[in-house]
Amino acid sequence: MTRDPLSAEITPPEIYARRREFLKTSIGAASLLAVPPAPTFAATAAFGAGAKQSAFSTAEMPTPLKHITGYCNFYEFGTDKEDPPRRAHRLVTQPWQITLEGLVKKPLTLDIEEILKLAPIEERIYRMRCVEGWSMVIPWLGFPLAELLKKVEPLGNAKYVEFVSAVQPETMIGVQSRVLDWPYVEGLRLDEARHPLTLLGVGLYGEVLPKQNGAPLRLVVPWKYGFKSAKSIVAIRFVEHEPRSAWMKSAPGEYGFYSNVNPTVDHPRWSQASERRIGEFTKRKTLMFNGYGEQVASLYAGMDLRKHF
Ligand code: MTE
Repeated sequence: MTRDPLSAEITPPEIYARRREFLKTSIGAASLLAVPPAPTFAATAAFGAGAKQSAFSTAEMPTPLKHITGYCNFYEFGTDKEDPPRRAHRLVTQPWQITLEGLVKKPLTLDIEEILKLAPIEERIYRMRCVEGWSMVIPWLGFPLAELLKKVEPLGNAKYVEFVSAVQPETMIGVQSRVLDWPYVEGLRLDEARHPLTLLGVGLYGEVLPKQNGAPLRLVVPWKYGFKSAKSIVAIRFVEHEPRSAWMKSAPGEYGFYSNVNPTVDHPRWSQASERRIGEFTKRKTLMFNGYGEQVASLYAGMDLRKHF
């Protein structure tokens, strides 16, 4: 299957970063004259044009697009890093609906086009750290998940949110294997889900989210290990009790509910003290909460993070 290259594939990350600086100033001036049209999922070209730059972005150099789209975890397409890039083009992303259900006043079903109109799309450049010991810097496009959650008015006893990924047996060869109990499910505490850093990701490097990275929409939670960021979400459920994620079911001793990036709590089979940034050779130290402690540490005040790993 062939496709047109994304503009970032033909643009080195340094030039991408400089072009963003230029766009920031020129968009600033242009936005005084015109309101950019709401992006549509089908219109790939210039999807992120007009995206607001976020103060939450890191100034670190983004990882080249070829690594972000070429080295993926998406077990529905197989367990090798190259399986999703080879196979995910089969994923059917249109039409795509997402249901918001459970302990809410107004349950809702929305299609992707409606979701894209809920809030202005921002560019957020986040560090992402995988539990396997590698990391990337990804220029996401999206908006705070809180903007979507507030539409359904969660009830007082909704304490957690469960995220359910798609199962498309005809396009996802990996769901024939028992490596995980499908569908892929992840969970957050409601206050984590509403935190301003938590993003509903719909694109990266200025364009629509590539399928291997979780099109058409995924969770992006930068202070937690990568597996918390569920891809290709079809349902969001508000629940009273802590949900059991697919990883907790598969290996409860290895993957806890919180899964905050924490260099002081080793995985039972390897250290979490350092990481390899994809594209670099020397390892770097892993930071508590992946470097987002200033924003999120207060969520865990008084909790023993060795017990709640
Ligand atoms: N979501 C689904 N549905 N299935 C998966 O296998 N893998 C997780 C997470 N979300 C996964 C998923 C893991 S382990 C990681 S590290 C990140 O996606 C990887 O995201 P990326 O491939 O876009 O870097």
